[in-house]
Amino acid sequence: MEIILSENEIQTRVRQVGAEIGQRFADARLSVVGVTVGGIVFLVDLIRSIDLSIRVGLIHAKSYHGTRPGELSVDDSTLPAEIVTDRDVLLVDDIFDTGVTLKRTTEHLLERGARSVATAVLLRREKNDDCRAVHPDFVAFDIPDRFVVGYGLDYNDRYRNLPYIGVLPASEYETE
Ligand code: IMP
Ligand code: MG
Repeated sequence: MEIILSENEIQTRVRQVGAEIGQRFADARLSVVGVTVGGIVFLVDLIRSIDLSIRVGLIHAKSYHGTRPGELSVDDSTLPAEIVTDRDVLLVDDIFDTGVTLKRTTEHLLERGARSVATAVLLRREKNDDCRAVHPDFVAFDIPDRFVVGYGLDYNDRYRNLPYIGVLPASEYETE
């Protein structure tokens, strides 16, 4: 495994981002909502660095199959109204790639009555020809255009528990 971001680098930067969020939302009615499954590791570290009275929830979105993006499905049945309605929601995800996940979940939360929706991601994938219409409000790290695992990110539901971000050796990929 080639390590791109070490456990230490991640922890230090996540604390900084948490402090920034705490300042930005000091006067808000903040709910921090993690996109499961990939966003949960970032979520649990991030919320412990936000020194505000917040609510926390989860929304489920799934689009990747192996290393390829597919149809996106959003399921918010685990997200009670009091976390969303008339609240300033901060959506937290693992990686910003095409932006479809954050765009669709944002629309979904606004339809459900969120007062505002902002977004935070651990990683943003750099694109040569960046035609993404929206960008996250908070980005912990920009990374090169490679498929990564660890700290929540999976390959076929494995490697999420690694405390660092890495690139798998070619031999680890199953034939897709
Ligand atoms: P987007 O909707 O294209 O921005 O994709 C974001 C979602 O795709 C993330 O929530 C991840 O679950 C998944 N994803 C994108 N790139 C990677 C990767 O390199 N490793 C693991 N999952 C990824
Ligand atoms: Mg995801």
